[in-house]
Amino acid sequence: MKRRKLRLGILTGGGDGPGLNAVIRAVVKKGISEHGARFVGILDGFQGLIERRWKDLTYDDVSGILHIAGTILGTTNKGDPFAYGPRGDVSRTVLKHVKELGLDALVCLGGDGTMKIAEGLARLGVRIVGIPKTIDNDVVGTDVTFGFDTAVKVAADAVQVLHATADAHRRVMVVEVMGRTAGWIGLHAGIAGGADVILIPEIPASIAAVAAHIGRRHRTRRFTIVVVAEGAAPEGIDRAALHPGIIGTTVADRIEEAGYESRVTVLGHLQRSAPPTPADRVLATRFGAAAVDLVAAGKFRRMVAVRGGRITSIPLSKVAGRVKLVPRGHELVAAARAVGTSFGDA
Ligand code: F6P
Repeated sequence: MKRRKLRLGILTGGGDGPGLNAVIRAVVKKGISEHGARFVGILDGFQGLIERRWKDLTYDDVSGILHIAGTILGTTNKGDPFAYGPRGDVSRTVLKHVKELGLDALVCLGGDGTMKIAEGLARLGVRIVGIPKTIDNDVVGTDVTFGFDTAVKVAADAVQVLHATADAHRRVMVVEVMGRTAGWIGLHAGIAGGADVILIPEIPASIAAVAAHIGRRHRTRRFTIVVVAEGAAPEGIDRAALHPGIIGTTVADRIEEAGYESRVTVLGHLQRSAPPTPADRVLATRFGAAAVDLVAAGKFRRMVAVRGGRITSIPLSKVAGRVKLVPRGHELVAAARAVGTSFGDA
C-alpha cells in the first residue's frame, strides 16, 4: 500500500530575527525534495493556529528568500495559546486545527517563549520540533542561535563607526543595543567594536564607576564609547521607570551630570532587520536540514541545537522556561577586561 505523503506545518513565533526565511527555505526544500512532504505555513506564529490563518507552501514559495530578513510567515509575540488575552487557555482550539490540517508534525522557529509554548503543545500530543531563533542568543541548550551574528554585526559596526565623531568632539558616545534579559549582544558587539565600557544586565554596575573609568581614560584619550544593553540596570538609575530605548539616554544623561559631554544612539530594531550574515545563513540552513531529519526519524518534542560546532538536539522540556545568561566570570568578560574594557563595576 502506498504511504500517505507527510503533511508538515511550519511557523515562526516571537520577535523576528535575521535568518528565519533561510530556515523556512531549508525545511521546506529538504522536506519536499527528500521526503515528498507537503507543507502548510502557519501565519503569525501560534496565533495562526488559533485564528485559522495558514496557507500551503510550495518549493517555489521559498525560493529567493535566503538573504531576506523578517519572515514570509509573519510572527507575533502575543500568540500564546495557553494565555491568549481575555480568552485565556485556547490550546484545545490549536489541537482542533492541527487535526483539521492533518499535520504529521509542526516545526516551530522561535526563542525561549516559543519553545515553552511548543513544549506545552507537545505535552498535549502535538508532534513538534523546535528550532532556536533569537538575536539575543539566550536560548539554553545551544551554543548559538541564528540571528545573533547579524545583530552583533550591526551593533559592532555602529560602535566602530561612532569612534570617529566621538574623537572629533571629545565626547562620550553611548550606544544602546538590544538584550532585555541577557547581555550577549552587548558583550560581543562591545568587544568587536572596541567599546571602552560595556553595561549588561548580568554584571551589577554603577554610574559612579563608569564616570571614574571615563575620568581615568580621558587623561590620555579624547573620547569614550559606552555600550549599554537595554536590560542593563546600573546603580543610580531607577530601572522600573524606564522603557527599552530610554536606558541609553538615561545613562548618557547621568554621564553628562558627571561632567562629560555625551550623545546617545539607540540601535533598536535595526539589529533585527538587517539581511542575515553568511554565518547566520549557514547556521539557519543547517538547523532547517536537521529539523527535517528529526521529523523523518520520528524524534519529536526536541529542539535542534549546535554544540561544540556539531548539530545535535535536546528535549524541549530542558529548554522551556529557561534563559541563558552571561556568566559573570565568562571567558569573554575576562578577555574584554584584559584589553581595558570596563563593565562599570570597579
Ligand atoms: O528577544 C528579542 C528582542 O529583540 C529583544 O532583544 C528586545 O528586547 C525585544 O525583542 C523587543 O521586542 P519588540 O519588538 O516586541 O519590541
